[in-house]
Amino acid sequence: MSTTAKATATVNAAVIESFDEPPHYRVIPEPQPGPGQEVVDVLAVGVHRATKGIAAGKHYTSPTALPALAGADAVVRRADGSLGFVMVMGAGTLAERIAVDPAVVIPVPSEADPATLVATMNPALSSWVALKARVPDITGKSVLIIGATGNAGSMAVKVARHLGAGRVIAAGRNRARLDQLRSEGADEVIALTDDADATAKAYAGAAAEVDVVLDYVWGPPTELAMQAVLSARTEHTRLLDWVQIGGMGGLDITLAGHFLRSNAFRVLGSGFGSVAMEDCAFDELAAAITAGAMTVRPHPFPLAEVEAAWAHEDAQGERTVITL
Ligand SMILES: NC(=O)c1ccc[n+]([C@@H]2O[C@H](COP(=O)([O-])OP(=O)(O)OC[C@H]3O[C@@H](n4cnc5c(N)ncnc54)[C@H](OP(=O)(O)O)[C@@H]3O)[C@@H](O)[C@H]2O)c1
Repeated sequence: MSTTAKATATVNAAVIESFDEPPHYRVIPEPQPGPGQEVVDVLAVGVHRATKGIAAGKHYTSPTALPALAGADAVVRRADGSLGFVMVMGAGTLAERIAVDPAVVIPVPSEADPATLVATMNPALSSWVALKARVPDITGKSVLIIGATGNAGSMAVKVARHLGAGRVIAAGRNRARLDQLRSEGADEVIALTDDADATAKAYAGAAAEVDVVLDYVWGPPTELAMQAVLSARTEHTRLLDWVQIGGMGGLDITLAGHFLRSNAFRVLGSGFGSVAMEDCAFDELAAAITAGAMTVRPHPFPLAEVEAAWAHEDAQGERTVITL
């Protein structure tokens, strides 16, 4: 992208000029649609962990050449007036108008609030994709979330509840946050402490017969959890899908082979690369957020204040959003 090219029409945008600085508010040429592309109006863009990582050159989809457009997702208005949600990662979304491939536009209900939708889609995605596309239907099933006190994990509690889980168990270290999760859909909580025996006992008591685990932690805390759950399990042929999503507690685990032989136990992962977009029913997620089933509070900034938006630290339950 060139910010100096001569053009008759221009748009306001947030442009990454250096990986060491926040994006800057700039005027750039109107986007020119490539073959099959459509130009859409951008209504709201989320400033997520990944959005900042991309702009800092630390993400695998970070641009290889600068200047480049910031932003990884957007709620957009199409030429026919309908709303859509796009995730374009490294291609950039933070401009008044962008060119997109219509095939990647996820339909959004017309009554959606763009800022709320864009604030919520990203945090909800990890559990939505795992539960929709990686494991069998969870209706009536028991779901354990490890790392439930984090952003993605606490959203997973709501997503599991929305998708019909019969029982949702939230495991985490932050006691106060765990207690709040009870009023957000968790039936039971497991406090993870430095006392390994007490933690193992809590897992064995609350989660021995769980059907699905969404694991945001991994590493040694997961080794302890797996051993505790599998050792306490009585229904060995009941399928247990342990879905690796995050690595806050470590990159690796060691797992004794007999746990896999003596239980109907599968370890799998969920993230970009392990699922096909068309299997994820993202339009259903957009509809559920619009209906209020799960929401993250947007903290809005105008595009002209993109640098302030980048510096803002989100409080629990909110997400910085740039509205256009
Ligand atoms: N695969 C995907 O599609 C996908 C999508 C989104 C996120 N992720 C990954 O998921 C992870 C969580 O993301 P997030 O946004 O929810 O982060 P976050 O808000 O920082 O939450 C981190 C969570 O991990 C817990 N935790 C950290 N270290 C721990 C340890 N040693 N033992 C036990 N718990 C520990 C925290 O517990 P405390 O509250 O007690 O600190 C908290 O519950 C990250 O690794 C992220 O990259 C993956």
